[in-house]
Amino acid sequence: MEDRIQQAREKIIVALDVASREQAFDLVKRLSGKVGAYKVGMQLYNSEGPDIVRDIQLLGGRVFIDLKFHDIPNTVAQTSRVMVRRQAFMFTLHASGGSKMMQAAQQALQEEAEKNGLPQPLSLAVTVLTSISQEDLRQEMGVDKPIAQHVAVLAKLAKQSGLAGVVCSPQEISAIRQTCGKDFLIVTPGVRPTWASADDQQRITTPAQAMQAGADYLVIGRPITKAEDPAAAADKIAREMAEA
Ligand code: C5P
Repeated sequence: MEDRIQQAREKIIVALDVASREQAFDLVKRLSGKVGAYKVGMQLYNSEGPDIVRDIQLLGGRVFIDLKFHDIPNTVAQTSRVMVRRQAFMFTLHASGGSKMMQAAQQALQEEAEKNGLPQPLSLAVTVLTSISQEDLRQEMGVDKPIAQHVAVLAKLAKQSGLAGVVCSPQEISAIRQTCGKDFLIVTPGVRPTWASADDQQRITTPAQAMQAGADYLVIGRPITKAEDPAAAADKIAREMAEA
């Protein structure tokens, strides 16, 4: 069981949705050895600057840089090289940027990693933001397909373009597994243990359900970061995942 709990810990990515370096460091220190990585999103990255990544790494944490790149192929490819040099564990780009953009990014990752003898960060596609409704997709983006189908099309495009995986809602895990197979990483937010508040998340699953559905990593924020004892909350979640 201890082995399984340790494996589960590696699959927990804590969303550091905090405003300052001090708050982020406090969490990283408290959670050391309890989780697999830390997600730095646009709020923390833009308020503290890119050194926040290095500083978390110096504390021993792996960093998921979640800036959701979406630009022309050359710009995203050059930025992907930066992700290698910053030794990101994972980073995100929008699948809707197209296969040329994703392929250019993937090729740049490989070249830059080889050139510098560094590991290649895991590239994760964002498909359709979960804040977009069916109506938004149709009226504002001109896509008539059901969202789930559009998500699967974009996930497949990401896979064909060589990306490592996708970030998706727990509801989409099984459809993406079916379309993209078992070697495609699935990272899912929207996870809530039964004992935690749902906060503003609408369609949630428990850590155990997300694991059973086939997620590889879970992004968890407030159930850990807002807990009175974040390390204890992370332990409790890892145990639930291990028992799934
Ligand atoms: O605090 P909570 O566990 O809800 O945090 C979830 C994290 O995952 C946040 O950083 C949020 O921005 C991110 N996320 C999400 N839903 C998506 C994509 C990302 O909640 N569809």
